Amino acid sequence: MQVLGIETSCDETAAAVVEKAVDLAGIETGEILSNIIYSQTSEHEVFGGVVPEIAARSHLQKLDGIINKALAEANTNFANIDAIAVTAGPGLIGGLLTGLMTAKAISASTGIPFYAINHLEGHALTARLTDNIKFPYLLLLVSGGHSQFVEVKDVNEYKRLATTIDDALGEAFDKTAKLLSLDYPGGPSVEKAALAGDPKRFDFPRPLPARTETNFSFSGLKTAVRLAANKCAPLTQTDIADICASFQEAIIDVLKNRTHKMFDLFESANTQKDKHLVIAGGVAANKQIRSALESLCQERGWKLIAPPMNLCTDNAAMIAWAGLERLGKFEPSNMSASPRSRWPLDEVSVGVIGSGKRGAKA
Ligand code: KG4
Ligand code: ZN
Repeated sequence: MQVLGIETSCDETAAAVVEKAVDLAGIETGEILSNIIYSQTSEHEVFGGVVPEIAARSHLQKLDGIINKALAEANTNFANIDAIAVTAGPGLIGGLLTGLMTAKAISASTGIPFYAINHLEGHALTARLTDNIKFPYLLLLVSGGHSQFVEVKDVNEYKRLATTIDDALGEAFDKTAKLLSLDYPGGPSVEKAALAGDPKRFDFPRPLPARTETNFSFSGLKTAVRLAANKCAPLTQTDIADICASFQEAIIDVLKNRTHKMFDLFESANTQKDKHLVIAGGVAANKQIRSALESLCQERGWKLIAPPMNLCTDNAAMIAWAGLERLGKFEPSNMSASPRSRWPLDEVSVGVIGSGKRGAKA
């Protein structure tokens, strides 16, 4: 079975073809036949963040060509495609509309069914494409719009265990980078600068450390970084490196603290022997964070699953895979499907104060 994936929720225009095969023992495996990503970073960097109107226009200009490229690289065509999977939310509405309308148009003209996919489900299920792991598992999703722990019980069965009450982790990296005049996007710049820095020079706050607290809060840390930068101004290269290293160390401490608590919570509800922690989202590309979580997993008898970098950040292969996971189990979408700028994975969990205030994401 082949699914064409389309992703346009933020600033990547992406299309991919993924195939699922089932062997004689009933084991399902996915293979990425093509994974085309056009990143709009250069169109937004002068503004220091994603400009929704520019993003929507760029998706519109590029998407058709990107889809053709994905089909050609996969050596396939619409006659072989069993379904289209398209991100319908959460994200920036203009981009979502472009992707969804394109999927509907292809579906109407070819008769191929389409699935409106939650972008977060794409991130949540990627580890089953890359590592073939079984449900249930624990997901740490950390990107520019989200910071969540989710218990992934099955396709379409997600329980949010913790979230942020203010900024998302990627947002905290981006804002820190902006404050220090580092390149956009901020995460990789902060990580690079931190390599030369002293993580002990600034004692930044570790937010919400109380024993029972499981949610994240990063706005206090952001303020502490601003105050430290103001105090050191004019900043030298050493100051910048030390601030980045101390900031990253604070983040890592918080992530370790919360992950321990999530392991306890997961273990109290699930008794299986193989326990997997999956990390996803752009921040999962951070090597220091990965290695800190790796050691914690070893300490607690868990296995860390970190998909390759190009599948951690936004891409259409994960959307195509989510479509393959749904194909045959759930009804396809119909022409009344609409894009949703907010769309939590776990629709029953109550919102927390301040979360999702950026508006674009859940
Ligand atoms: O998942 P993603 O590509 O897009 C969404 O936000 O959905 O994540 C982008 C975020 C940005 O905030 C970026 O600064 C952050 O991931 N990021 C990183 C690193 N690479 C990307 N944060 C920390 N360290 C990195 N190496
Ligand atoms: Zn994402």
